[in-house]
Amino acid sequence: MHALASRDPRPAVAIGVDRSAGMLARVGELPAGWSAKLADARDTPLEDAVADVVVCSYLLHVLAAEDRAAVLAEARRLLAPRPASRLVIVTVWADRRRLGGRLADGMLRALARARPAAWGALAPLDPTDDLRAAGFTPARRVVLPRGGYPSLVILAHPRLS
Ligand SMILES: C[S@@+](CC[C@H](N)C(=O)[O-])C[C@H]1O[C@@H](n2cnc3c(N)ncnc32)[C@H](O)[C@@H]1O
Repeated sequence: MHALASRDPRPAVAIGVDRSAGMLARVGELPAGWSAKLADARDTPLEDAVADVVVCSYLLHVLAAEDRAAVLAEARRLLAPRPASRLVIVTVWADRRRLGGRLADGMLRALARARPAAWGALAPLDPTDDLRAAGFTPARRVVLPRGGYPSLVILAHPRLS
């Protein structure tokens, strides 16, 4: 939330959600109009169509397939049914088409397998299929290979019927 808060202009209202009180305690001070809630991302206490943008930062790859589907269904419920509504997903991921990516992918998978309780959250995930199954159309993907975890950012829009 702090990275978003430092953007100019920043959103007037933002609500962060995590089900860990320990993680929320690390959020610190937020701008006026922003808040952090203790809640499950599969079933938040927020109203339908309340958001223009939903961001899932480093969440989907730590979840089982059925929980990913539940989080994405919740994101759809929260997003206003407008073409401009956006879902932004960030997951740990390494591009296996490159040598560095193959090495990083192998290392991350080996760590996640070796100690699932401690390092399971490092297992890479490309959530494109989950997004499509949940009724989103991926529009843009950006690979972040340097600085922090190798990561994939996907921008998607809800399919409107
Ligand atoms: C790798 S951390 C990422 C934390 C933060 N979103 C970030 O980008 O730095 C994964 C977080 O997902 C949270 N989490 C896992 N399952 C969740 C769920 N069903 N609802 C809400 N938060 C969840 C965990 O408590 C943990 O804080």
